[in-house]
Amino acid sequence: MSRIAIVSAMHPELAAVLAWLPQKQKQTVAGREFVLGRWHGNDVVAVLSRIGKVAAATTATVLIERFGVRQVLFTGVAGGVAPLAQVGDVVVASAFMQHDMDASPLFPIYEVPLYGRSHFATDAVLTAALVRAAKTALAQGVLDAADLTEMGMEAGLAQVHQGLIISGDRFVSTRLESQRLQQALPAALAVEMEGAAVAQVCHDYGVPFAAMRTISDRSDDDAHADFLKFVDTVASRYSAAILDHFFTQRAR
Ligand code: ADE
Repeated sequence: MSRIAIVSAMHPELAAVLAWLPQKQKQTVAGREFVLGRWHGNDVVAVLSRIGKVAAATTATVLIERFGVRQVLFTGVAGGVAPLAQVGDVVVASAFMQHDMDASPLFPIYEVPLYGRSHFATDAVLTAALVRAAKTALAQGVLDAADLTEMGMEAGLAQVHQGLIISGDRFVSTRLESQRLQQALPAALAVEMEGAAVAQVCHDYGVPFAAMRTISDRSDDDAHADFLKFVDTVASRYSAAILDHFFTQRAR
């Protein structure tokens, strides 16, 4: 089966993913450590995207050019923008766009110049598989009672949504900015800092791409509070559990 990339935005998530790869080999390219291994018989390479669109685009390009990946999966956290995207929910992307792209009046706002488009759709088949894996993982329960209490979460409430995720080189951490994004882009479910860049690189190379993001905050004035703890306790376990279901399904 062809090689698949797992790109994580943060260290604890990558660590949770690497825990599933028994035998691994490491290679450093462009200052990034790429970890090669097998997950339920799938040939995988896992790496940190680093933060922001340019860093993520470099990582995606190296994955395709140097490691020959034929599919790319992204896992990370995002801020909720739509009211339905609550902390602890999972959003699987159906498309990405850059909320900070603006070459107007030369090109329409949000359009990526010379592409004639603002949105980059994810791969339908990979995305459907990720939604299935996320629903299965959440239905089985990923966190134990102690973690739920610690994080002030309730069992069985987390939901899986599918829709537009927006990316920009900014951590959205005020209610005002979040409301502005919601008004300008009413279809947006969540905001993060890398996905649209990886989606564009995958589009350039014709490589299927899918992404899931756990909602870590509501992109408001409290967005930074407990962010790192959330990534450690919740998001990293969600990512690993969802990917484990994803690779189990694929192996069948
Ligand atoms: N990733 C997680 N939360 C975010 C936020 N509020 N803004 C941008 N990226 C994020």
